[in-house]
Amino acid sequence: MASASATGLNALLGCDGSVLLNSTATNQAEREAHVNFGLRGVPEIDQIKAALEQSCPGVVSCADILIMAACDATAKVGGPTWPVAMGRRDGVNSTSLMADSNLPFPALNFSVLGANFAAKGFNAREMITLSGAHTIGRTQCNGILPHIYNFNGKDDANDTDPTMNKQFAVFLKKQCPQGNRTNM
Ligand code: HEM
Repeated sequence: MASASATGLNALLGCDGSVLLNSTATNQAEREAHVNFGLRGVPEIDQIKAALEQSCPGVVSCADILIMAACDATAKVGGPTWPVAMGRRDGVNSTSLMADSNLPFPALNFSVLGANFAAKGFNAREMITLSGAHTIGRTQCNGILPHIYNFNGKDDANDTDPTMNKQFAVFLKKQCPQGNRTNM
């Protein structure tokens, strides 16, 4: 599935498939946004689209493929399934600036996140329900590093968030050596 962070609220912003569009010479697309660092799954969606275009050209949008893939992936890992209505049209606009100025960053605290979701019409309950999507998928070390090595700006192995469980911090440091943004 074109993962969120299509993975994610990013997937919501990309619910018209705009997160799948490539940059052009004059436009930096959504998927190049800082907030979309680590976005996975685009080649898989491209493959599905190519197969569909062979058998029924011009019928199924990328936005519909994304939604179906999200539903199937959820069911495949033992989650619920739901009827998926079809008929989304693909967007044609995709700018990294829009993604970076609308999507929340992982370092935001609860109240700022709440305000961010509220600005898009979601209440706290809905925000928490949607955030449950993170029980599926993986994250790269990018968002973890500042908590384990650079919490007070010292950039060393002991500069770890003091509120973090100590054993968990040891585990994360093994997974994410200093400076490695892309391990998962
Ligand atoms: C508070 C808002 C959110 C923030 C700050 C956020 C942030 C992130 C980050 C940083 C990642 C890891 C990306 C990577 O390292 O590759 C991620 C992954 C993911 N997010 Fe979100 N997200 C948010 C909301 C959502 C929502 C609303 C959904 C879906 C309803 C969602 C679904 C996912 C999924 C499925 C992944 C895993 C993707 C993978 O395995 O590649 N996220 N998110």
